[in-house]
Amino acid sequence: MNKNTILAKTGQILYGGDYNPEQWPESVWKEDMRLMRLAGVNFVSIGIFSWAKLQPTEKTFDFGWLDRLMYLLGENGIWADLATATASPPPWMSRYPDLLAVDVDGHVYSHGSRQHFSPSSPTYLRFAEALVKKIAARYAKHPALAAWHLNNEYACHMNMCYGEASAKAFRLWLKERYHTLDALNAAWGTAFWSQHYSAWEDVQPPRKTPMFSNPAQTLDFHRFTNAAFLKIAKMECAILRKATPDLPITTNLMSFFKPLDYFEWAKELDFVSWDSYPDPLDYGELIGARGHDLTRSLKPGRPFVLMEQVTSHVNWRPVNVAKPVGTMRLWSHQSVARGADGVMFFQWRQAASGAEKYHGSMVPHSPDPEKTRVFQEVRELGAELKKLEPVAGTLVRSRAAIVVDWETWWALELPSKPTEFNYLAAIEPVHRYFYERNIAVDFVTPQSDLSGYSLVVAPTLYLLRGKDAKHLDRYVREGGTFLATCFSGIVDENERIVPGGYPGHLRETLGLWIEEWWPLGPSETRKVRLGAKALSGSRWSEVIHLKGAKALATFEEGYLKGKPAVTRHALGKGQAFYVGTVLDDSSLGVLLDDLSRGLKLAAPIKAPKGVEVTLREGGGKRFLFLLNHNGKAVRLPLGRLKGTDLISGRKSGKAVLLKASDVAVIELE
Ligand code: GAL
Repeated sequence: MNKNTILAKTGQILYGGDYNPEQWPESVWKEDMRLMRLAGVNFVSIGIFSWAKLQPTEKTFDFGWLDRLMYLLGENGIWADLATATASPPPWMSRYPDLLAVDVDGHVYSHGSRQHFSPSSPTYLRFAEALVKKIAARYAKHPALAAWHLNNEYACHMNMCYGEASAKAFRLWLKERYHTLDALNAAWGTAFWSQHYSAWEDVQPPRKTPMFSNPAQTLDFHRFTNAAFLKIAKMECAILRKATPDLPITTNLMSFFKPLDYFEWAKELDFVSWDSYPDPLDYGELIGARGHDLTRSLKPGRPFVLMEQVTSHVNWRPVNVAKPVGTMRLWSHQSVARGADGVMFFQWRQAASGAEKYHGSMVPHSPDPEKTRVFQEVRELGAELKKLEPVAGTLVRSRAAIVVDWETWWALELPSKPTEFNYLAAIEPVHRYFYERNIAVDFVTPQSDLSGYSLVVAPTLYLLRGKDAKHLDRYVREGGTFLATCFSGIVDENERIVPGGYPGHLRETLGLWIEEWWPLGPSETRKVRLGAKALSGSRWSEVIHLKGAKALATFEEGYLKGKPAVTRHALGKGQAFYVGTVLDDSSLGVLLDDLSRGLKLAAPIKAPKGVEVTLREGGGKRFLFLLNHNGKAVRLPLGRLKGTDLISGRKSGKAVLLKASDVAVIELE
């Protein structure tokens, strides 16, 4: 099987959800199968939280129920996304004290919820390895098995563990990275505040300290924590790959999740998947789009799977509002519009007990679930997704990209900075710009191949290695358009100031240097003039000296009046822009509109506000997705485009009429 697409085995858009039948008598399973067939379900994630059921005591295993379940799924034509079941260890394992994670205050976690293990616990690793080996050996050849699902949302609740097991593993990790204590002392700058180490055993995780901890130490602890979880995933992958070299492996990621560097993670996976739970009271379609765009970007050239979402309401917010009628359908199609080949839910049947019994599901609590509004919508969606089969395997193509870098995220949000920074607050407005204009956009890292992008925006790329800066510089010289925003390029990988003036390694690319930073107070703003246009900045200003760049916009008030605020540097065949303040959304829009116009970045068709438009392409076919997020109908002129709506089966005329919350997927001629 070609692992490039999970569809190679199923040949369909995947549809289903987390299925936890171990919570129900087996008599219910038959009814589940009937309802799944009715709903068009073809893929379910099973066994995710079943470790205690599979291994009820240290020495005993029970796979009988899973054998029967796998058989039943196969009999009903439903593919299994079989979990490695390592997400939550059984209570008996807590007898080994190293199992339990410890927080920064030294408090030990307990079983009785989920995910209480330390990622560095030798006990956890030993038992997890043994379990995965057993599962892999038992089900490798099972005809119902379509994919492996590692663990579940790694590090979601418990990520930074500060216990003894972690301290030991951290030291080993540091030894591998630095080899000598001298190198560690140099990298961590321990000459400061009497932190010099003379023995490895004195090195600790950044536990509770009276004042700011050593930033390089904390940054390394982020790296180590990411590596500790990834080590578990790699261990599981190695076992599974050996057993089933041709079966794809995934794990459910969580979009912008700070503890884990998902670009690193994606390298280990055959396809990526994620869990999306925007609050319907927020701007959910924007939040969903951001997660889809990131997830798609993690593995360029491959579709992803929306592994979890909810049909109606979750249970973990103070108030859990239901998705308005039509939203579940619309947001499901949105995932496909942005590159998903699978639409899944948490979970299939609503639980009767446990902490998630008030969480929405595909089969709600009801004497006759088949008659419920939710199930009927689930069923209709299943039928619609079947019609989208031709879309499967096609891709979203973007010419714009936003740089996101987990190391910058970790370093930037360490305390004791010139002002308080929030990395996502720098990224989100840029993504929102592209989303609201229906311009396809990917996320990339400073190491990504940028040759296919006309515009690359790097919001506050604070930590930048010299070789990555060179890569960005080359992109510009070879004809790219690059835009960086304030506080970029400041430190190296050890959180040490790059010497020679800010912005460090980016000075030559941007054609400027910065003498002083002038952070602005919470209610301060600065007028900025860009040609005839009045813009506004806040939070940050700085003294920029031009060294080849030209001022495009200047500060209009305060000490910096008349000094550059936005610059452009013509370099080689390309150009590099820099913004020395935090522009408000409409000002950022003015600047990015200018760039987009110049680079001919545009939406596939013109659409009114609240209408999302995307294109998926491949195999000589093109599919135009039109999603109306408005509460009223809209008419969308298609210009010269023509085609047939896969959902309604109707040929498009000169325009498409979309009802409130409606969707069309036009296969273009
Ligand atoms: C996810 C998790 C699921 C379930 C769901 C509830 O984070 O993977 O197991 O807990 O949230 O929204």
